[in-house]
Amino acid sequence: MNAEPRPMIVGVVGAGTMGAGIAQLALQAGHEVLLNDVDEAAIARGRDRIATGLDRLVVKGRMDVDEAGSALVERLRDAHGLDTMAAEADIVIEAALEDLDLKRTIFRALDSAAPATTLLATNTSALSVSEIAGATERPDRVLGLHFFNPAPVMALVEVVQGEATSGATRQAGIDFCRGLGKTAVTCRDAPGFIVNRVNRPFTLEALRMVDAGRATVESVDHAVEAAGYPMGPFRLMDLVGIDVNLAVARALYEAFDHAPRFRPSPRQEALVAAGTLGRKTGSGFYRYGPDAPVDPQVEPVAGGTEPSARPFTDAGILERIELAIINEAYHVVGDGVCSPEDADIALKLGAAHPYGPFERAGQLGLRAVVDGLGRLAASGGTDARERFTVAPALWSMATF
Ligand code: 3HC
Repeated sequence: MNAEPRPMIVGVVGAGTMGAGIAQLALQAGHEVLLNDVDEAAIARGRDRIATGLDRLVVKGRMDVDEAGSALVERLRDAHGLDTMAAEADIVIEAALEDLDLKRTIFRALDSAAPATTLLATNTSALSVSEIAGATERPDRVLGLHFFNPAPVMALVEVVQGEATSGATRQAGIDFCRGLGKTAVTCRDAPGFIVNRVNRPFTLEALRMVDAGRATVESVDHAVEAAGYPMGPFRLMDLVGIDVNLAVARALYEAFDHAPRFRPSPRQEALVAAGTLGRKTGSGFYRYGPDAPVDPQVEPVAGGTEPSARPFTDAGILERIELAIINEAYHVVGDGVCSPEDADIALKLGAAHPYGPFERAGQLGLRAVVDGLGRLAASGGTDARERFTVAPALWSMATF
């Protein structure tokens, strides 16, 4: 039987969706939480998010009402300064905006005020943990703890080892996540880590099919959900935030020297420029009522780059997405980011896929995967050849 985790003082920087979710998890695990954001109003909004999250648990009978009340009143404290928070906390988790300069500034401030033993973690989605750690005098005590949205629900945390992260720090990160009831997978500090890179085609290939005018938002979501995925790509982007999804796509596109398979879609660029970001703004690929989620109304999607081509069938939609995901998983393992087993665990627990990419490749047969990718690469359309070129590790692991 697992021993109860030792109560700690957990600092959380950033009281938005992810920060509040992480803070809620820490409170549920019995820790004390110091919550920081740019001003009092932002902290207050974070408190509201946490209260709503704990209330969900009370309604479901998973938390006693008095326990939730005392967590909010006695164990959740506002932290108005990074220095006072860092001086007191055992571990600080940063969940601020995805801006490298901002994160480095935060880490510099935390580092100068925190005792040498304090662990500093970033929840970055796709920035380099090593570059963030480089702003401190303790890069060995800095690591990535990448949670998934909604943090209270998704079972995975990616524990990211920066270039200088020590083994003891990595182990402390794993223990901390296990204490929150999460499964931890470790990975190298590579762009997008595991899930945000392997799952990139889930949204980018979906966008390309709609951009080509050969599928609609509805038809893609329907095909994917009918295959056992809890959410289609467009409902998922609306949940996570189209801006957040675009930031990850941009980071990977830059990190991989503008490889076409990571190119963001003009459609998501346009939505973000218009401030249409998904559920949080009331509309994205779908519209939402005041008590979201309501039955979403699909926004019409205009035009397409291949209007004369036949629409994709459900099977065709699924094949493009799944084969591209499998191929990216082979790239990731070939690059030494993680093991195939951890990639399977990560996609199932971090993105709720019904199977991992290597499990799926096994179901389909590697011969069929390679043949399918070859067909898609030869099919024409925007950048198809690069997007579906078989990963070197897949060639070398496939025996025919
Ligand atoms: N906060 C807390 N709990 C929530 C929640 C939220 N925002 N949304 C749903 N839940 C809970 C519900 O209360 C319910 O709990 P229960 O089973 O204990 O009763 C459970 O989650 C299931 O919710 P619903 O029945 O209402 O709805 P679904 O069955 O459709 O599940 C979902 C919702 C869990 C979000 C599911 O659709 C899912 O897993 N979707 C995929 C999400 C995903 O891929 N996330 C990763 C995004 S990528 C990312 O975060 C990385 C970042 O760097 C960009």
